[in-house]
Amino acid sequence: MNQDIFQTMASLSEEIKGTVITSAEQLEAFRIRFVGSKNIIKGLFGEIKNVPNERKKEFGLVLNALKEEAESKFEQDKDQLESTSDNTQNHGLDLTAPVYYDSIGSRHPVSIVMNRIIRIFERIGFTVAEEREIETDWYNFTAMNTPEDHPARDMQDTFYLKDSTADLLRTHTSSVQARIMTTQKPPIRIIAPGRVYRNETISSRSHCQFHQVEGLYIDKKVSFADMKQTLLYFAREMYGPQTEIRLRPSYFPFTEPSAEMDVYWGLKNEDDYRITKGTGWLEILGCGMVDPNVLSNCGIDPEEYTGFAFGMGIERQAMLQYKVTDIRQFFENDIRFLKQFSGAL
Ligand code: PHE
Repeated sequence: MNQDIFQTMASLSEEIKGTVITSAEQLEAFRIRFVGSKNIIKGLFGEIKNVPNERKKEFGLVLNALKEEAESKFEQDKDQLESTSDNTQNHGLDLTAPVYYDSIGSRHPVSIVMNRIIRIFERIGFTVAEEREIETDWYNFTAMNTPEDHPARDMQDTFYLKDSTADLLRTHTSSVQARIMTTQKPPIRIIAPGRVYRNETISSRSHCQFHQVEGLYIDKKVSFADMKQTLLYFAREMYGPQTEIRLRPSYFPFTEPSAEMDVYWGLKNEDDYRITKGTGWLEILGCGMVDPNVLSNCGIDPEEYTGFAFGMGIERQAMLQYKVTDIRQFFENDIRFLKQFSGAL
């Protein structure tokens, strides 16, 4: 009996050493056999009564060593399995932890209004053209019938750059007109959204950067009436089907004749008086028939083709739509402000 029990312990020790554990199932089988509440080693403790007195101490030492061996192998293999194996249930993650909902970003109000404008024009066959913000003098001014000594250059305070290939930050998206006309053949029907820059004092009403949408339509026999109808369609899509517009004569170097378009906003409350300066009319955009000089500057025959162009600021329309009273809010990226537009497209 003595021999047997010592032999049993020796062979269990061999078994423990020889057990290879690579899965949760194997680990569990090992646990049940060697460390669980009804494990085989535990059962051997009762055998002490059959061990002769002079070997009882030895028996106790060997059995305790066996117990420790089993326990430490179990712990070690368990750690090993958890850190390397895909078979553990939770991959080392706490799957019972509460879910953390990260908030989804929202579109910038300027983008929302810009996209609305683009979609309105896309429905009548305009396609989007995007061009550079860092421009040469030629595309921003000269091609647009505004040569160097032209007084109209003072209309837009320009940020000039010290670079031989690029001269300035574009002051208007009209530079895209020249970019497109020099590279595409009529018929041309484009809408050009983008950021523009002017060296202006920053206040609640004006900023040194803002956004415009430019439109350009060139084909044979395009008339002022076509322009008026296109802009009326736009105004009614944008501001409601009953919206009235008016065209006031104006001046731009690159259009002749030129006009500014107002929409009738109404005088229902005090705000309306303030926004429209008591007239009820709101200026939305500048427009006109493309000046023949611009066409020939860009390689299009003004005898064969005519066209109209228009340009509008986005921020002011976004301010009207969302009742934002300070233009600077569009550029501060204050999350509390931007969050209010979540869900809009
Ligand atoms: N570029 C002009 C501006 O920034 C707007 C405009 C565009 C006017 C096209 C006429 C035609 O004020």
